[in-house]
Amino acid sequence: MSVIAPLAPPAAPLAAAPSRRPAHVAIIMDGNGRWAEARGLPRIAGHRAGAQAARRTIEQALEHGVPWLTLYAFSSENWRRPAEEVTDLTGLLRHYLRNEIKELAANGVRLRVIGEAHRFPPDVQALIAEAIERTRRNHRLNLTIALSYGGRGEILAAVRRAAELVRAGELAPEAIDEETFGQFLFTGEMPDPDLIIRTSGERRLSNFLLWQAAYAELVFLDVLWPDFDACHFAAALADFARRERRFGARPG
Ligand code: IPE
Ligand code: IPE
Ligand code: MG
Repeated sequence: MSVIAPLAPPAAPLAAAPSRRPAHVAIIMDGNGRWAEARGLPRIAGHRAGAQAARRTIEQALEHGVPWLTLYAFSSENWRRPAEEVTDLTGLLRHYLRNEIKELAANGVRLRVIGEAHRFPPDVQALIAEAIERTRRNHRLNLTIALSYGGRGEILAAVRRAAELVRAGELAPEAIDEETFGQFLFTGEMPDPDLIIRTSGERRLSNFLLWQAAYAELVFLDVLWPDFDACHFAAALADFARRERRFGARPG
């Protein structure tokens, strides 16, 4: 018997079967504050660098042919942060919407926003609506930005809507199945995420896509969001390609 340990099987190549590639990658972009702190910079510098990382990631999704990319940019709980940081983040969002949409549109990106957009200042709401409208006919990459998004709030809003339809006699309680209910969520027309990546070393969902994440593969990376690059993205896709997804069925 050989005492030499067998060679580990080669990692699945990135260009594996299409099913081994996620159709929908969702990212919890965390760690901007710590990135800035480590450099003795104000938190806004971390958020600015984070916006650059988001830009790179969109390019990577286009490059890898990932058709759906969702970025968690601001949670419904992030309003609890100091007013100054919220103002800075809103300013950054305004800047992003004013300056990046043209390029996104030219690259065939369709923008969607999930979350409570109405909580942002009216001019930002108008920029969001304009960006969505302007990119509506694109289909190379479906980019969704989660803004003032929270999974529990989203589910509650859907429950309320279903209840109102039932009260109005327009929906039978027994007709509320996963598909019908899913239509009431912000993500109604979107596929569930196949892969959720979180940066910064935290291993939690922080209220992100709670319903939709039911069978998502989770990848937690010990990298702060502003440092997230093409290699990290490719590594997460390679990790996903090696996973066996079972959806509760028998392995094999
Ligand atoms: C993520 O970075 C960006 C937002 C939540 C808006 P953080 O600001 O949470 O950075 P850390 O987690 O404090 O390092
Ligand atoms: C999650 O990060 C939200 C976003 C990345 C937009 P947080 O920094 O808000 O999450 P917690 O507070 O560490 O759970
Ligand atoms: Mg954080």
